[in-house]
Amino acid sequence: MVDFVEIVEMAARDGLQNEKRIIPAAEKVALIDRLSACGFRRIEATSFVSPKWVPQLADGAEVMANIKRRPGVRYAALVPNLKGYEAARTAGADEVAIFVSASEGFSRANINCSIAESLERLKPVAEQALADGIALRGYVSCVVACPYDGPTPPGAVADVAQRLLALGCHEVSLGDTIGSGRPLEIAAMLSAVLAVAPPGQLAGHYHDTSGRALDNIRVSLDMGLRVFDASAGGLGGCPYAPGAKGNVDTRAVAALLEDLGYSTGLDLLQLSEAADFARALVAAPGEEQSR
Ligand code: HMG
Ligand code: MG
Repeated sequence: MVDFVEIVEMAARDGLQNEKRIIPAAEKVALIDRLSACGFRRIEATSFVSPKWVPQLADGAEVMANIKRRPGVRYAALVPNLKGYEAARTAGADEVAIFVSASEGFSRANINCSIAESLERLKPVAEQALADGIALRGYVSCVVACPYDGPTPPGAVADVAQRLLALGCHEVSLGDTIGSGRPLEIAAMLSAVLAVAPPGQLAGHYHDTSGRALDNIRVSLDMGLRVFDASAGGLGGCPYAPGAKGNVDTRAVAALLEDLGYSTGLDLLQLSEAADFARALVAAPGEEQSR
């Protein structure tokens, strides 16, 4: 039997949160509808964060209200706190994703609090999501290095991953936020995380700033991971990780996986069209915002 590897599609959230141009909701909806035709099981559609911090995704409710939901696709939203969770639930998110940094510097820059404070803040979010029966995903950011603090010790990543699982996350996605990771560093980080979590509860979320994301996916596959985040057209980055480029391009990940003999369930022609559409949406693909 062919081994299935899931790609979780990020272009509409991670991909668009860093664009200079504020993209109208209708264009975001058109992108998500195209992505829905590609065969993804999960599409991260938007975030419900402070519009003061990320104005690009301030229209999350409008986007969620207007997408054509395809049966079998889970539409996810990123949330930083209870306020964001409640907005995501009202908007009908099938899955919510909470996020914690493995480094203090990025935590401060991205969500204005320490790692410990963010975990406290996310406790009621997790409890509510579990009570509401909404799937809960977790992210760990800066799993290899932080733009403010430098290299991240693998043990710090394992610690945060373990805490996210203890909150009830069904899966923890490991973010190389600035895309500096090399395969050996990814392997060292994964070794530490795999000591506290099974590979079936982990995903790789690799930004492709240094062009090594595919190599990092290969090493992660070898270590048992079977879920990877990717962004159609390679769009994206984080406004609070200066210089970081987008997630690895979904087309490249799908092609790699097919070459290696894995099944992805994706329609590569539809994906190629969706990726072209995504790239046409952005004013200057891959260019980060100046703030
Ligand atoms: P704060 O300023 O410390 O806290 O922000 P606050 O509670 O005082 O909120 C400020 C204002 O935002 C208030 O409005 C709140 O009501 C409002 P005001 O009273 O001034 O009018 N507010 C909200 N509005 C709508 N929805 C909400 C919400 N929360 C507060 N959910 C906060 C703290 C966490 C809110 C802020 O720092 C924030 O929103 N940060 C998010 C930054 C972000 O989205 N970064 C990108 C996503 S993470 C990422 O990309 C990494 C990832 O891809 C993995 C990887 O690559 O590593 C996931
Ligand atoms: Mg990211």
